[in-house]
Amino acid sequence: MTAKADANLAAVVETTQGSYRVVVGQGIVESLPEEFEKAGISGRAFLIADEALFPVAVRRVQETLEAAGVVTHVMTLHAGEQAKNLETLSYVYDWLADLRGERGDTLISLGGGVMGDLVGFAAATWLRGVAFVQIPTTLAAMVDASLGGKTAINLPTGKNLVGAFHQPRLVLSDLDLLATLPERELRSGWAEAIKHGLILDNQLLEDIEANSDSLISLEGEKTAEIIRRSVAIKADVVSADEFERGETRILLNYGHTIGHAIEASTSYGTFLHGEAVAIGMMAAGRISVELGLISEEILKRQHATLTRFGLPTLAPGLDTTELIERTKSDKKSRGGAVQWVLLDGPGHATIRRDVPEQLVRSIVDDLIGA
Ligand SMILES: NC(=O)c1ccc[n+]([C@@H]2O[C@H](COP(=O)([O-])OP(=O)(O)OC[C@H]3O[C@@H](n4cnc5c(N)ncnc54)[C@H](O)[C@@H]3O)[C@@H](O)[C@H]2O)c1
Ligand SMILES: [Zn+2]
Repeated sequence: MTAKADANLAAVVETTQGSYRVVVGQGIVESLPEEFEKAGISGRAFLIADEALFPVAVRRVQETLEAAGVVTHVMTLHAGEQAKNLETLSYVYDWLADLRGERGDTLISLGGGVMGDLVGFAAATWLRGVAFVQIPTTLAAMVDASLGGKTAINLPTGKNLVGAFHQPRLVLSDLDLLATLPERELRSGWAEAIKHGLILDNQLLEDIEANSDSLISLEGEKTAEIIRRSVAIKADVVSADEFERGETRILLNYGHTIGHAIEASTSYGTFLHGEAVAIGMMAAGRISVELGLISEEILKRQHATLTRFGLPTLAPGLDTTELIERTKSDKKSRGGAVQWVLLDGPGHATIRRDVPEQLVRSIVDDLIGA
């Protein structure tokens, strides 16, 4: 192992399907062949890329692999949430069939969470499972979606209804790839990184606060370091609760109860996921204050950080009753009671199932400006 490669190591995720390295750095696409070797990956590579990454990033990955003697086939897809479906999946299977993809081959996803989920599911099911590598190209996918092995596609009746746990063999996040990402997507991604600090690591939260300028401008090493630490938090959580059976993984749902309700009630068209989560974190944070779990001061810090990263903290014009009803149908509610992830300190979270609806109602009223 070279010193440089190890400096980029954010986490080693331990799973029942084996362990995998997560590396984060700037200009590290070129270390792919070395990482493939460490992961014991051989055979051909099937690179499936979001067309937003074409041609520059796609060629860079392809040429890096081919220069190292890895036969690489490339397909680009018009991604986006609408494409995360059976039709696109079937198109991928047809391509693999035409090229006679084999058990020893590897599927690589180059793109955001949509590509990761779709290609991951293709890898989970093609020939009953082949190796899978994630090269996330959104900040949200780097700190969240690429980790944990959840793969899925959407059905017309709902999101992520068909899927599998299929762990990647490697996750490689190169900050260079974020250069073309729209600014709003970047801000949305920061919401999840900030969330990791809020729920589990006060030191990370403080460092995000102290380095916001460098992070917003994606200044190299500082940004890589903070992303590595955010990645390490999610990696720890998913290693401890691989199949989402325990309580630990639920903590990652901070801000998501109201966040999902906001996304659904606006038909996923108004807010990006991280934006809805930011507003949801303000709701959950306010509940935490009202229940006496944290001080007003901590909520103010959360608000200041979200605002600093250009994230919204209010959702004017939505309907309180509709949002509340949607929190009840959230798939993460259990036995009828809504499971609220609340803060009980900076860098510390807890799960509560006894939050009075009346309290939620008055807080949501404030968020929507009623
Ligand atoms: N598996 C999990 O654990 C998990 C966790 C969270 C989210 N998800 C899934 O992730 C998906 C959302 O992923 P996302 O937020 O990464 O969004 P995304 O994949 O939809 O990407 C967002 C947009 O940015 C474009 N894009 C991506 N990378 C780019 C780049 N480098 N330059 C220019 N444009 C680029 C895409 O084409 C798209 O338009 C959802 O489908 C969600 O269900 C999965
Ligand atoms: Zn999320």
